[in-house]
Amino acid sequence: MRLFLDTANIDEIRDVARMGVLAGVTTNPTLMAKESGISYRDRVIEICEAVNGPVSAECTSREVEGLLEEGRGIATWHPNVIVKIPMDANGLEATSILAGEGIKINMTLIFSANQALLAALAGATYVSPFVGRLDDAGHDGMEVVRQSVAIFDRYNLPAQVLAASIRSSTHVIAAALAGSHIATLPYAVLQAMIKHPLTDTGIERFLADARKYASV
Ligand code: G3P
Repeated sequence: MRLFLDTANIDEIRDVARMGVLAGVTTNPTLMAKESGISYRDRVIEICEAVNGPVSAECTSREVEGLLEEGRGIATWHPNVIVKIPMDANGLEATSILAGEGIKINMTLIFSANQALLAALAGATYVSPFVGRLDDAGHDGMEVVRQSVAIFDRYNLPAQVLAASIRSSTHVIAAALAGSHIATLPYAVLQAMIKHPLTDTGIERFLADARKYASV
């Protein structure tokens, strides 16, 4: 499973890119609103130059014509830009047209396997179930990931499942075991994956022992 960062913060992206584990980035208007002093376009281009992989930038238009115009514009920003379109009837129509023009789409705000199937059939390259928000609403969010992976596999649909709204390192393991192609993580979750208390105490013990022979 590939790992993306779910952030518009360039420092977080550069930090994780240096570790060699970052395969892409997803952004959304909420994440971008946390950034200041830079336009969405400029930040997305900055991110594209910091990571060698797909970078999703979200459309905010609600009508088909608006989505087409906005999506075509976003697609010109950088060769690695993926146009992110929210799931609904207009989003499906825009996705099918833009995908037909060779523009890669990440269909977002997916909350059921039915929506995931529709997104894949419309031609989305990435399909993003929101695991954490489903869990918040009392559902098993990861079940949508499992079902979507099984359906895409069963019918050889080329769309990739991108597990989003990931809230914990436990979610990451569950997404990997569910066969998700990608999980997009907040920076804090990536940091939590790195840490283990036994690693910390193990390093301390090795360093203490190394000081014993270093002084001989
Ligand atoms: O980028 C979309 C998704 O990952 C948002 O997550 O935590 O706002 O539900 P969250």
